[in-house]
Amino acid sequence: MSKKLYIETYGCQMNISDSEIVHSILVDHRFEVTSNPENADLIFVNTCSIRENAEKRVMRRLNELKRFKKSNPRLVIGVLGCMAERMKESLLAEAVFVDLIAGPDSYRDLPKLVDLAEGGQKAINVILSADETYADINPVRLDKNKVSAFISIMRGCENYCAYCVVPSVRGVERSRNPETILQECRILFDQGYREVTLLGQNVNSYDWEDESGSLGFPQLLEKIALINKDLRVRFATSHPKDLSDELIATMVRNENICRSIHLPVQSGSSRILKLMNRKYDREWYIDRVNAIKKNLPDCGVTTDIITGFCSETEKDHQETLSLMQWVEYDYAYMFKYSERPGTIAAKKLADDVPDEVKSRRLEEIINLQQELSLKSNQKDIGKTFSVLVEGTSKRSDKKFMGRNSRNKVIVFAGSNIKPGTYKNVTVTDCTAATLIGKLAE
Ligand code: SAH
Ligand code: SF4
Ligand code: F3S
Repeated sequence: MSKKLYIETYGCQMNISDSEIVHSILVDHRFEVTSNPENADLIFVNTCSIRENAEKRVMRRLNELKRFKKSNPRLVIGVLGCMAERMKESLLAEAVFVDLIAGPDSYRDLPKLVDLAEGGQKAINVILSADETYADINPVRLDKNKVSAFISIMRGCENYCAYCVVPSVRGVERSRNPETILQECRILFDQGYREVTLLGQNVNSYDWEDESGSLGFPQLLEKIALINKDLRVRFATSHPKDLSDELIATMVRNENICRSIHLPVQSGSSRILKLMNRKYDREWYIDRVNAIKKNLPDCGVTTDIITGFCSETEKDHQETLSLMQWVEYDYAYMFKYSERPGTIAAKKLADDVPDEVKSRRLEEIINLQQELSLKSNQKDIGKTFSVLVEGTSKRSDKKFMGRNSRNKVIVFAGSNIKPGTYKNVTVTDCTAATLIGKLAE
């Protein structure tokens, strides 16, 4: 008789992808998936440590989930992912009802850990690995639309940006065997998927070596793009220091590599970038965006920004605003700096920008981005795009939604359109978040 597993995922796309691997491992170990925590025998929360708020949210949720133990005393609650790795055993002091703790490299051990926890013991594995990539595990796809899938191509990070916990919770950088990636892409295409997003903390430092030679990110990308012209290929995240001309040239040659690059800038001030240990400065970043604009004029650039990093002045903040204006980002993820225990910044730099100043700067950044997103969308009115349809829109089942190559969401009226088909759509209107269109004649 199979037992029921419920899993909730927080954090980045890497975690979403990891949850699919966890599912696969436990489905092979007498579990079936449920979307309802109430009737679960095993609840996993796959967690994120990137900012203090992310962890607080998980703690609140864990405290909510513990009530299911009242009606089902045999219920096992496990914490997976980055917070499990960061806090290790100390998590048990804050949440005594947690039975199992597993870091991101120990998911193969989950069947054993679950057996231990079911037997009443606390089960913990937070050992990081130098070579685990879960390359041979075929993930159970949890996406709803069966059109677009995430594929992890590497794990870990060794960039040690001063503010960031990822290197300590995800371990050293390692690339996955390209044959297993290609095989996964081919199978997905045959199953009807039309879009893959290649994932890594820094995808453009992908590097595989074996007897037959070495393979870098641009070559891997091209091999995947050549599987079929109808397969769209996306990737995230690119570190500006490694965004090569070769990568741009590979995109130019292959139209199905999507015209959108996520290029986190973090700050527009060279002084702050240096303190952040980002290994590039404002001029380098501008040079890379210029290379994109020149060779891929239809390519959108999106970004991540941290505001209020240690010692950030009003002048540094203005430099971030002016850089945003120059690049004209399509979209940005914007955060207040949150000091994380154990990071270089926590050890060496004072978190000295007052919270109200961080909040005010964040608001200015968000307001500017809102204007830039609207401006970018307004430029698309009257244009016709090839849209990969993902399904009906959230608000109405007579409307469909999909994305263009630039990763912009387009909503349009239609009937009987199967997810996974391409449609030409002409943009007639927009908001800052969405393009609104109609099927082209
Ligand atoms: N590997 C990716 C980023 C992963 S984390 C990259 O280097 O671009 C996603 C984003 O969270 C980062 O780009 C950064 O903007 C933000 N972030 C990371 N640590 C943070 C912290 N301590 N406080 C606030 N934001 C942070
Ligand atoms: Fe964190 Fe920097 Fe690595 Fe990104 S590149 S995960 S920000 S250390
Ligand atoms: Fe969070 Fe871990 Fe991703 S800290 S952002 S879930 S790599």
